[in-house]
Amino acid sequence: KKIAVLFGGCSSEHEVSRVSAYSVISNLSKEKYEIYRIGITKDGRWYLYEGPLDSIPDGKWEQSEQKRPAYLTPDRGAAGFAVCGPDRTEILKVDCVFPVLHGRNGEDGTVQGLLQLSGLPFVGCGTLSSAVCMDKAVTHTLLAGVGIKQAQYLWFYYSRYLKNPDKVRIKIGARLGYPVFVKPAGSGSSVGVSRVNSEEELDAAVRLAATEGEKILVEEAVSGQEVECAVLGNEEPEAAALIGEIAASAAFYDYDDKYKSGKSRLYIPARLSDEVTQELRAIAVRAYRTLGCRGFARVDFFVRGKTEILLNELNTIPGFTPISMYPKLWEASGLSYGGLLDRLIELALE
Ligand code: DAL
Ligand code: MG
Repeated sequence: KKIAVLFGGCSSEHEVSRVSAYSVISNLSKEKYEIYRIGITKDGRWYLYEGPLDSIPDGKWEQSEQKRPAYLTPDRGAAGFAVCGPDRTEILKVDCVFPVLHGRNGEDGTVQGLLQLSGLPFVGCGTLSSAVCMDKAVTHTLLAGVGIKQAQYLWFYYSRYLKNPDKVRIKIGARLGYPVFVKPAGSGSSVGVSRVNSEEELDAAVRLAATEGEKILVEEAVSGQEVECAVLGNEEPEAAALIGEIAASAAFYDYDDKYKSGKSRLYIPARLSDEVTQELRAIAVRAYRTLGCRGFARVDFFVRGKTEILLNELNTIPGFTPISMYPKLWEASGLSYGGLLDRLIELALE
């Protein structure tokens, strides 16, 4: 089968995507698949890249000569990538697209919409669930509606905050208290996220979050365990048997801790009772189905006092870097990395 792997993208998680894609491409069976790598630059140009694989993680592929512009159009008559050569343009037809893109313009339903219009099967969630899960405030609102417990939160637009910051300060003080987490509502990998210990630190945190978008989320800081559940499937999704736990080395599991310092510890299985583990798996599947997910998602939780389960968020294209939890959880539950990729492609073609 011909598989196009998309990587990079116009997103603050561009660099993470390159590392995830490298790992995915390295683990896709070369016997089963003919792999085409489609790189998207940070400013949104698409290329078919045919140079060395190890120029993907460090971004050197962008300087390579071994790349040609490759356009994906919503015109079903040209379903595939129009690859521009020096003399002519060919249509590269593929059986399936694997968007290994994180964050905005990749994980948020935009690329999924384009793929759907093109009629190309693709791995992972469709437009609706991708968009809903990218916005943490919308996720919270919808899941509260089906009785899934989450941290206390509120959200606002940055422009409104600038007009009347005191109104927001009063609300945070009255409804949440400190410490809180201030987050962009729609980004991932903890980009733009701060832990705020007192009102004096709020302004700087809000400004930082606003660099990622207008909509800002403030959540109570839950003290407890941070755990993650891997879900896989379409109409009948399944949660991996084992839950993973992260013991952050920093004040919280921030970007550096996730990808740079290598100091945070992972526990597989998480240090939880069997009962809590089963309940978590069931909630993860319920959230996944409620939000209309397909293919895969990683559902993240907090557990307070060893028993109280609070859903944090869903990631519809979870990290696939060598240290990422999603593939590790399936591996620990008996499904190899390569086997997991086969399954994701099968699910896309169902
Ligand atoms: N947003 C990152 C890639 C994750 O959820 O793993
Ligand atoms: Mg996330």
